[in-house]
Amino acid sequence: MKRRILFATLVATVAVWAQKPQYIGAGGCSGSNCHGGTSPAEEKISRILTTEYSVWSIADKHSRAAKVLEEPRSKKMAEILGIANPLSDAKCASCHVVGSPERAKSDGVACEACHGAAEKWLGPHTQQNSHATSLSLGMVDTKNLRVRAQTCLGCHLGGEGRNVDHELIAAGHPDLAFEMETFSFAQPAHYRDPKPAAGNSLPKVRMMAVGQAMALGEAMRLLEKHAMTRWPEFSDLDCYQCHHDLRAESWRIERGYAGRRPGSAQLNLARTDVLRTLVAGAAEGQRAEFEAALNRLAAAVSASLGNWNAIASAAKAVAAQADGLAARWETTDFTAGMARGMAQGLVRDIGRIAASGPHSAEQATMGLDALSASYAGNPQAAAKAMGELYNYLEHPSTYQAREFAAMFRRVAGMVQ
Ligand code: HEC
Ligand code: HEC
Ligand code: HEC
Ligand code: HEC
Repeated sequence: MKRRILFATLVATVAVWAQKPQYIGAGGCSGSNCHGGTSPAEEKISRILTTEYSVWSIADKHSRAAKVLEEPRSKKMAEILGIANPLSDAKCASCHVVGSPERAKSDGVACEACHGAAEKWLGPHTQQNSHATSLSLGMVDTKNLRVRAQTCLGCHLGGEGRNVDHELIAAGHPDLAFEMETFSFAQPAHYRDPKPAAGNSLPKVRMMAVGQAMALGEAMRLLEKHAMTRWPEFSDLDCYQCHHDLRAESWRIERGYAGRRPGSAQLNLARTDVLRTLVAGAAEGQRAEFEAALNRLAAAVSASLGNWNAIASAAKAVAAQADGLAARWETTDFTAGMARGMAQGLVRDIGRIAASGPHSAEQATMGLDALSASYAGNPQAAAKAMGELYNYLEHPSTYQAREFAAMFRRVAGMVQ
């Protein structure tokens, strides 16, 4: 009897594997009693807003992700890369056209790109208290910060079968930069902000910290893969190291090349610079190990860019550190004091961070933005002050490390 049960489960499991659940499409979520409402439901009546579809289709750039593939910029990219139709070619569609059945591909990045193919959970998820059941039927657990970060990063960094590598960038694709709290804030909200809870006083600061750690972990796994398969992949290195004007009054020469051979290659430090500050503020016990792993990776890259094997194994070790940090911060109770402390840490470290170039400066800016939102007394004034930093970074070719650092210190002082 026992055997029969085992056999039956096995058959069921194989059947599930064999049949990937199908996308229903955003249209299937748009009923006015479901997610297609026009005004948000009151919170005491409904946890969800019920306007998700309207928010997404009207305001969220994800709903236009397929349309941008028809713009002249995409056409030029396709021409350079020899892609006949970006809408159907996986080189573009793998990130821009996801979550819809064949007939609704123009929906771009639809609900199920983030929430998981709904074929199996569509029915069950409309029942009361069905969340756990839905998860077991393939709904993505977007409430879990690590899962959420992995979901966003799958497209906003790339991964298996999804590449914005230097070839795509050189053909005209925008460079990808991501910070989970800032990007979640920038995505027009179709859900209520998480409330502070016991053990999670500042959900957004937790989101930022876990997001930073996950971004490094995923980037290191990608780097490891690139190192083993097609190294050197320029998009893993610091872009502006190669792409900058040559001038006698260079801020790079002024800065020097601490700890490495002048002119040797450096990884994209935007992935680690802010995280190092967060570790100093919120994971002091892991700091020495973390720094040592980073140093081994940096040394491997600058000593010999050709030694892909050493680079891959050093990247793997950094990924393990990053995973440990994400797991730790997922349960850390971040307080306003800690957030302030980490923001002060960014100010203390901004000289080092700014010296890594515009991408690190951008991460520091998004980091300060995310942290200060939790303690700023006057959010409007804070946003205005932060705007100055974002504007400065719009022009990377005129970036000066010292100038940026001075501006950062000043703005951080205003955002109180
Ligand atoms: C790894 C996932 C991924 C792949 C593959 C990808 N893209 Fe993108 N693309 C993105 C993301 C994410 C953005 C948004 C970047 C941002 O604003 O931070 C974007 C932005 C763009 C933009 C700018 C859109 C705007 O609103 O300004 C264009 C154009 C574009 N992609 C075209 C393409 C084309 C053409 C291809 C195929 C040759 C392609 N993409 C492949 C993820 C991807
Ligand atoms: C780019 C990714 C993304 C897309 C696209 C997206 N969502 Fe979401 N959605 C999220 C995240 C992240 C959350 C917040 C985490 C959570 O509560 O599960 C969320 C939350 C929700 C919630 C609240 C869940 C709850 O338990 O409170 C609903 C309902 C929802 N989304 C429905 C939709 C619908 C319907 C669409 C399409 C019209 C859609 N989402 C498109 C990422 C996305
Ligand atoms: C299936 C791929 C995919 C996933 C998953 C995804 N995105 Fe996106 N995202 C894109 C693409 C493609 C664009 C560019 C769309 C455009 O410009 O029209 C984009 C654009 C954005 C933008 C607008 C950026 C800008 O420059 O204005 C934000 C914000 C954003 N995504 C946040 C998120 C967050 C937060 C998550 C995770 C909860 C997420 N995305 C998950 C593909 C994805
Ligand atoms: C190791 C050096 C190196 C690194 C690192 C590098 N690139 Fe490039 N990039 C090149 C070369 C070489 C070309 C081809 C230029 C040519 O053929 O004229 C190029 C071309 C480009 C182009 C198109 C031509 C142009 O200059 O406008 C863009 C855009 C670009 N890279 C962006 C980036 C971005 C963004 C990064 C980081 C994610 C990056 N590159 C990292 C060397 C590099």
